Amino acid sequence: MQLLNVSHLKKYFKDIKAVDDISFSIEKGEILGLLGPNGAGKSTTISMLSTLIKPDDGVITYKGKDIVKSPQAIQGSLGYVPQEIALYPNLTGRENLEFWGRAYGLKGNKLKKQIKKVSGIIGITDRLKDKVSQYSGGMQRRLNIGAALLHEPELIIMDEPTVGIDPQSRKHILDTVLELNKEGMTVIYTSHYMEEVEYICNKV
Ligand SMILES: Nc1ncnc2c1ncn2[C@@H]1O[C@H](COP(=O)(O)OP(=O)(O)OP(=O)(O)O)[C@@H](O)[C@H]1O
Ligand SMILES: [Mg+2]
Repeated sequence: MQLLNVSHLKKYFKDIKAVDDISFSIEKGEILGLLGPNGAGKSTTISMLSTLIKPDDGVITYKGKDIVKSPQAIQGSLGYVPQEIALYPNLTGRENLEFWGRAYGLKGNKLKKQIKKVSGIIGITDRLKDKVSQYSGGMQRRLNIGAALLHEPELIIMDEPTVGIDPQSRKHILDTVLELNKEGMTVIYTSHYMEEVEYICNKV
């Protein structure tokens, strides 16, 4: 089943052609790699898919619905892992997950259950009580991913989730993505590391 379709997408910032007429689609269960050097337009593309900014031209549909006209068609089904770490350093890991879980509409026992599940997946269960400011860079990256998994999204979009971390943490993240995909999650994965994209993606 086709989940997302992007057709002739364009976004210009004055005379900078940030995204210049790209088209692609993703089937349910695929891992799509968006590969490109700094400034290629990856984050801009992702911002349009996540309905954070509007395209200048082109059409994006999610399950056949135009997401520019109906942003809610994708919003509830989407997990978004931003390129910049979006966590509160003065809160603990658990408090950060609680915050993001509530933002995604979870509460009570369901929220507790999801925090337990997600911290297991990202491997930070034993550090949930610690403040994020005391986490290593790799742990912060993992928590940043965990925040987007709490509501069990159908599609997760990850913007360079392995920047600035060691090979071991990177391997952990890549294997987590493969594991989530095995459980049925569709993934859009942005990177400028060709070997990462080669390792996990079905389509580039
Ligand atoms: N809000 C903005 N205003 C003006 N120019 C912008 C804006 N956002 C992005 N750009 C420009 O658009 C181009 C694409 O940027 P974008 O952040 O999408 O690239 P990227 O592929 O994500 O790069 P990186 O690998 O460095 O994260 C760049 O030239 C950038 O300077
Ligand atoms: Mg970027």
